[in-house]
Amino acid sequence: MEHNHASDEQPLFAGFKTAFKSFATEAIHVGQEPEQWTSMAVVPPISLSTTFKQEEPGRHAGFEYSRSGNPTRNCLEKAVAALDGAKYCLALASGLAATVTITHMLKAGDGIVCMDDVYGDSQGTNRYFQRVASNLGLEVSFADCTKPEQLKTALKPNTKLVWIETPTNPMMKVVDIRVCSDLAHEHSKDIVVVVDNTFMSAYFQRPLALGADICMYSATKYMNGHSDVVMGLVSVNREDLYDKLKFLQNALGGVPSPFDCYLCNRGLKTLHLRMERHFKNAMAAARFLESDPRVERVIFPGLPSHPQHAVMKKQCTGCPGMITFYIKGKLEHASTFLSNLKMFVIAESLGGYESLAEHPAIMTHASVPENERRVLGISDTLIRLSVGLEDEADIIRDLEQALAAAHPKTK
Ligand SMILES: Cc1ncc(COP(=O)(O)O)c(C=O)c1O
Repeated sequence: MEHNHASDEQPLFAGFKTAFKSFATEAIHVGQEPEQWTSMAVVPPISLSTTFKQEEPGRHAGFEYSRSGNPTRNCLEKAVAALDGAKYCLALASGLAATVTITHMLKAGDGIVCMDDVYGDSQGTNRYFQRVASNLGLEVSFADCTKPEQLKTALKPNTKLVWIETPTNPMMKVVDIRVCSDLAHEHSKDIVVVVDNTFMSAYFQRPLALGADICMYSATKYMNGHSDVVMGLVSVNREDLYDKLKFLQNALGGVPSPFDCYLCNRGLKTLHLRMERHFKNAMAAARFLESDPRVERVIFPGLPSHPQHAVMKKQCTGCPGMITFYIKGKLEHASTFLSNLKMFVIAESLGGYESLAEHPAIMTHASVPENERRVLGISDTLIRLSVGLEDEADIIRDLEQALAAAHPKTK
């Protein structure tokens, strides 16, 4: 894999892999050629037509019906494939639609081994595997893939899919993609290793170059980056996987609208700029929080205190804006902190230009029984931040004044 040295001068990126070669150029130009349109449009048009004229029955210019293929979706898929260092990409209607489409490659009796701290114990990937896929005869088990020996034990003769998320949500556990992919493939060549790359985006991590078979996203987050599209993306190099997934994209029908494809394609044009700023702002916020006496512990993979900081540096080109921290005190301190934020918005989701804050125990993980939350580390004092693209000083100022409101006597 080639890298350029554009980021070498930035101490912020020190120790991380350098940025992927020509990333920005590819984000801006791949799949966007004006020559593909009779109008020579520089910006891909939103192609709303559901159907396309055939010169004679069966003879057409590449498009028949918009579920099977759409010109605007095509532009997006080509751009994402380039950014993932992949041959192919498929866009789906949501991150979960991508997960469902991938899982449909399996049949009843097949096994899935899933990272234990995967998106959404009460929603999302975990809920889909436990409450939907298992009812269809798929055997789902969970393993803490930060400890590869646990993954090894979990692999069974019927295992067909290994699902990794790194870093995880909200505990920010980091998995060594190379080690886990090799382990799975040594166990059986038939195992498909999927990495949910939502938190990292294509700019900071390329799972396919690290041995994974499929790289998927909730593009709702960083890839689109503007909190105005729900979408999923799936990138692959293997022809056989592409053929199966392309068939399922059409056969299951979970496709995104041309308008959403247009927006996400536009969002990609600034992905590199956004991610660098997310990293810079998050690094400053994480350092500020870690040095503050009103904070118990900060979990940010960019800090040397993170348990898998070395893995992060080995496999990534930077860190996204996601920070988890424990405020000192009890639930009331966490609530007071959140209610007093002035610029950060209390909301679910992440990866947009705006800073968001949430309380996993009350919001995203409310339906997880308290004892299970305790095992996961999701206590009443845990707070998750999605640090946005605002001015660094304003981000720190907001955190500082909300901490002061929560702990008026400290400091
Ligand atoms: C890591 C991760 N994967 C998958 C999903 C599901 O994606 P979507 O909400 O786009 O269906 C999410 C959503 O929050 C997520 O955070």
